[in-house]
Amino acid sequence: MSDQPKIYPVPEEFAAKANLSPEKYKEMYEASIADPEAFWGEQGKRLDWIKPYTTVKDVSWETGDLHIRWYADGELNVTANCIDRHLATRGDKTAFIWIGDDPDECHKVSYKELHAAVCRFANVLKKLGVKKGDRVTIYMPMILEAAYAMLACARIGAVHSVVFGGFSPEALAGRITDCDSGVLITADEGVRGGRKVPLKVNADKAADLSNGTLKTMLVVKRTGADINMVEGRDHWLHEAAEDVSSDCPPEPMNAEDPLFILYTSGSTGKPKGVMHTTGGYLVWASMTHEYVFDLKEDDVYWCSADVGWVTGHSYIVYGPLANGTTTVMFEGIPTYPDASRFWQECDKHGVSIFYTAPTAIRSLMREGEDPVNATSRKSIRLLGTVGEPINPEAWEWYFHVVGDARCPIVDTWWQTETGATMMVPLPGTTDLKPGAASHPFFGIKPVLVDADGTELPGATEGNLLITDSWPGQMRTVYGDHQRFVDTYFTAYPGNYFTGDGCRRDEDGFYWITGRVDDVINVSGHRMGTAEVESALVSHDAVAEAAVVGYPHDIKGQGIYAYVTLVQGVEPDEALRKNLVQHVRAEIGPIASPDLIQFSPGLPKTRSGKIMRRILRKIAENEFANLGDTSTLAEPEVVDDLIENRQNKG
Ligand code: WT7
Repeated sequence: MSDQPKIYPVPEEFAAKANLSPEKYKEMYEASIADPEAFWGEQGKRLDWIKPYTTVKDVSWETGDLHIRWYADGELNVTANCIDRHLATRGDKTAFIWIGDDPDECHKVSYKELHAAVCRFANVLKKLGVKKGDRVTIYMPMILEAAYAMLACARIGAVHSVVFGGFSPEALAGRITDCDSGVLITADEGVRGGRKVPLKVNADKAADLSNGTLKTMLVVKRTGADINMVEGRDHWLHEAAEDVSSDCPPEPMNAEDPLFILYTSGSTGKPKGVMHTTGGYLVWASMTHEYVFDLKEDDVYWCSADVGWVTGHSYIVYGPLANGTTTVMFEGIPTYPDASRFWQECDKHGVSIFYTAPTAIRSLMREGEDPVNATSRKSIRLLGTVGEPINPEAWEWYFHVVGDARCPIVDTWWQTETGATMMVPLPGTTDLKPGAASHPFFGIKPVLVDADGTELPGATEGNLLITDSWPGQMRTVYGDHQRFVDTYFTAYPGNYFTGDGCRRDEDGFYWITGRVDDVINVSGHRMGTAEVESALVSHDAVAEAAVVGYPHDIKGQGIYAYVTLVQGVEPDEALRKNLVQHVRAEIGPIASPDLIQFSPGLPKTRSGKIMRRILRKIAENEFANLGDTSTLAEPEVVDDLIENRQNKG
């Protein structure tokens, strides 16, 4: 990154119609920080409450008494806000545009139709015995029934846990047992990039691995594949829905009742169940969606994420629907049938806001400008990115080639834990610096500190903390509140620790520099190095493994694994392939190591701690910068590691 990044003013055509201005942002931001009670008390009114709240914020980040409550005596239902309240004015407006993997497949659903579909789905869940507070796991392809399933849970007060369809049976089973989920909603198969994904086969294996936790499966027919249905346990959705009513009154929920659990990787141990609740989350998802995307009534909005990630929760389903938006759901991938796909669909449906991940942009960039230039893209007025820092080169390409220099780019920094966007160049309020998350959203106060927690003023770089709560903050780690306290509130007492490093430049813009813990970001997906390591060591041939990230042209970071084999096992290509296969089976394809280096030893301190800093430097090809290696137990292992470093490709 050069020291003098380019600066782009807000494109004039955009600024003329923007909902916000620099002055308005400043005014609202200052109000949100000066009096959070008043600010959020007012913002809460964007929702319809069954029983209005009389308190706004009840938060303590003290480790001994950590609790986070917003609008705590209010009652509401998420689906009444996402669906019912729009029926009078937007009943015939398109809620979802579903775009199939096959370009000839597409389907529109109005708010009225959405209401009926969700009510029917909710009644099926009731018929199967699902009750308020029960955990329901959703393991689905990107079909409308995935959104219906989430909303049906919210309708009756069940807590959904969506597991990305790319996860393995083992990973799925772990998530089912962790939250004691007796019901799984899945499909016979998924379809992505012309290929079938055997979801029901995986679900069957997960059911076996769940030690009896899973009692009921609801199966959606997507491809009509010949699958095994277990008598008494498995039910086809279309059969179960035959005789149910399309009326299902929304369950009144307390603002702090759980809405969903979403598992995410941390720096240690197994994935944690990030828990979000009802009122604060929906205020936050809806408000950020409106302001981040400069939302207008006639927008056609497309977020290309998967509902298996938090982006899909907040910015395909809950935020857009709460705002009565037309939201696109896409089953396929950016490069199928060819690299024009995104832009062809934008033209076909008049998409005005397009939100995707840097890794998708980089993979399209590789295909050149022709597939983009073959399309019009005139309907697009705003572009967005999420998931990892965007490199300036990809930003420039997105801005100039895709957006014809007309469309601002909102680079949204946030996390599964934060529920929705925390930092972003809000459209129309600021100059754009390629690669900068830029400025805090309303109510968010970022602080940069050194390792000891001392605040660093001015232009500086440090660990990123947030100093006070916001309504969409996660409430706990499901079933393990202490882990929540330990992970986020213990290193820097009184603050929320993001796990990210960050730089603040001379103009006060924030730049996320990446994770400062043992978490890596592969194609915008968070991966705990410890998880990949434990998958590797569960293989019979492996004695020890250490996993680090390294720069990867498309994925942002690739997975580099150092593996020490057990005595007597000889390394070869077959074993290398076998280990990759093993990790895919344990976690899923997104965890596949890109490079595996067989190493007779790992650099350790005399007390036996693996020196990851050195492994990272070697993986990054920065041998000159290894630092002091004299404290190692066996300094000579480093020479062997350098000599046998694996290359990309
Ligand atoms: C981590 C969170 C946000 C939903 C998708 C990922 C990184 C995310 C950005 C961005 C720089 C980003 C951070 C963060 N990240 N967005 N715009 N610029 N870094 O959610 O899986 O919870 O991962 O992704 O490192 O901590 P997640």
